[in-house]
Order: sequence, then C-alpha cells, then structure tokens
Amino acid sequence: MFEMPEKRANSLNKIPLLGLGTYQGDGTDYAIGTARNATLVALKKGYRHIDTAYAYGNGIIEREIGEAIADSHIARSEIFVVTNLHNTFHDPQDVKTGLDMSLRNLNLDYAQGIQAIAHCPLGGSLAPAVARRRGGGPLADETIKAIAEVHNKTPAQIILAWLTRQGIAVVPKSSQPSRIESNYDINFSLTAEEQWKMATLVGLHGENGVRNLSNEDHIGFDVFDEEIDQPA
Ligand SMILES: NC(=O)c1ccc[n+]([C@@H]2O[C@H](COP(=O)([O-])OP(=O)(O)OC[C@H]3O[C@@H](n4cnc5c(N)ncnc54)[C@H](OP(=O)(O)O)[C@@H]3O)[C@@H](O)[C@H]2O)c1
Repeated sequence: MFEMPEKRANSLNKIPLLGLGTYQGDGTDYAIGTARNATLVALKKGYRHIDTAYAYGNGIIEREIGEAIADSHIARSEIFVVTNLHNTFHDPQDVKTGLDMSLRNLNLDYAQGIQAIAHCPLGGSLAPAVARRRGGGPLADETIKAIAEVHNKTPAQIILAWLTRQGIAVVPKSSQPSRIESNYDINFSLTAEEQWKMATLVGLHGENGVRNLSNEDHIGFDVFDEEIDQPA
C-alpha cells in the first residue's frame, strides 16, 4: 500500500501530509453520520490524519470522528488527530476547559498540538453568508485541468500532489467515498514545467489571487483595501 509521506510536526509527532478535512458547511442540512462514514472510509483507505474542530456542529463532528476511530480498531497511536480550540476558549485560563471538551467529544485522551495546515486546498466549502468567489475556483482552473488530463488524474489530485510534494500538510474535505479515496491516490510526479505552472497560477506576485471570503458583504467593508487601511 502507498505510504503517505510525513513531516516532523514537533519533537514527538510526525504528521502525514494528507489528512481528511471534516468541516460540513454551515450545518443547516447536515445529515447525521456523514462525518462518521467519511472518517471510516478514509481510515480504511489509509488516511492517518484527521482534522476537525469543536466549532463544527458544536461537537457533533468531533463525536462522530471519535466513534469512527473506535470502530476502525486502528491503534490511537497510529492516527494524527487535530482539533481546533474554539474562539471562546482562547483566554489562557479557558484553554484546558476547551481542550477537555473536545477530547471528551472525540473520546480520546490527547490530540496532537499546534500545526500549520493548508486548509481549503480545493478552494473550500463556501458558506453562502460570508463567501463570494469569482470564477469556479481551483478545481475548474483550465491550467490545472490540462495537467490533470495529461496524467489521467482529477484536478483535485493534481492540486493535492503538488502541495504535498512541497512538504505542505493538506486536509481536503469530502463526504463522498469515491472522492475521499481518489484524493488519497496522489503517488505520482509532476514535471518541473508542470510544477512551475502550478506555482505561478496566481501570477508571480499573486496578482490573480482569489479570495473566498467576501468581507464587503459580511462586515460592510474590505479589510484588505489599503486605501481604507490608512492612518486617519
Ligand atoms: N481551522 C480553521 O479555521 C479551518 C478553516 C477552514 C478549513 N479547515 C479545515 O480544512 C478542511 C478543508 O477545507 P474545506 O472543507 O473548507 O474545503 P476543501 O477541502 O478545499 O473543499 C471541500 C469541497 O471540495 C469538494 N471536493 C472534495 N474532493 C473533491 C474532488 N476530488 N473533486 C471535486 N470536489 C471535491 C467537497 O465536496 P464533497 O464533500 O461533496 O466531496 C467540498 O465541497 C476543512 O474541512 C477543515 O477540516 C479549518
């Protein structure tokens, strides 16, 4: 079986570079059991890194992940579990309470610490209230689609292979078993030219970059507008 490359996350742990993301959109149409099934499919496929947060469904997703880990009968020590301390627990005296709550949900006695992880590697699950994206996002990008065709892969596989080859840990989310599986099948190489094309998709200076979060719609002004951001 293909072994997902890892990198050292801290003195104790190595993080598998590809993990499963488990954010389920704004949760209004969440079908109970989806994250549990997704995690089971992922663990069976070989994923050993799961990313979650208390904020996803007020702990529902953490609980489903805990159930899936227990049902998988895979040793806890083999799985890298990341959860996120919710905003309301950032005061130092509240950190333990927040973490204990997540661990209870997960039915685990530890999670794996502070990580830099590339969230939303496939362009993100857009929450309609805050997001607005011009164009179809990375999965619909013509350059990525052309590279995918050459390799007989999906655009998602091209993106994930490119990111992980640079040592970047990524956590694509899917609830669809076939996508969960294919997102893990990234054991192929891109040519130097293809890698250059991927690296320069947004322009050499990021001039064609895409922002998913629509600040103007959400909070009434663009926090990235440098003219607004001047001292009065
Ligand atoms: N800590 C934080 O602040 C934070 C913030 C954002 C994200 N995250 C983490 O990062 C994870 C990933 O971000 P995300 O969920 O926003 O976005 P994402 O993983 O970039 O994209 C998920 C979207 O892509 C679709 N998708 C997945 N695989 C696909 C494929 N092979 N082909 C086509 N579409 C595919 C999914 O739909 P289906 O499910 O229908 O396949 C879903 O709509 C989150 O789940 C979460 O764990 C953390």
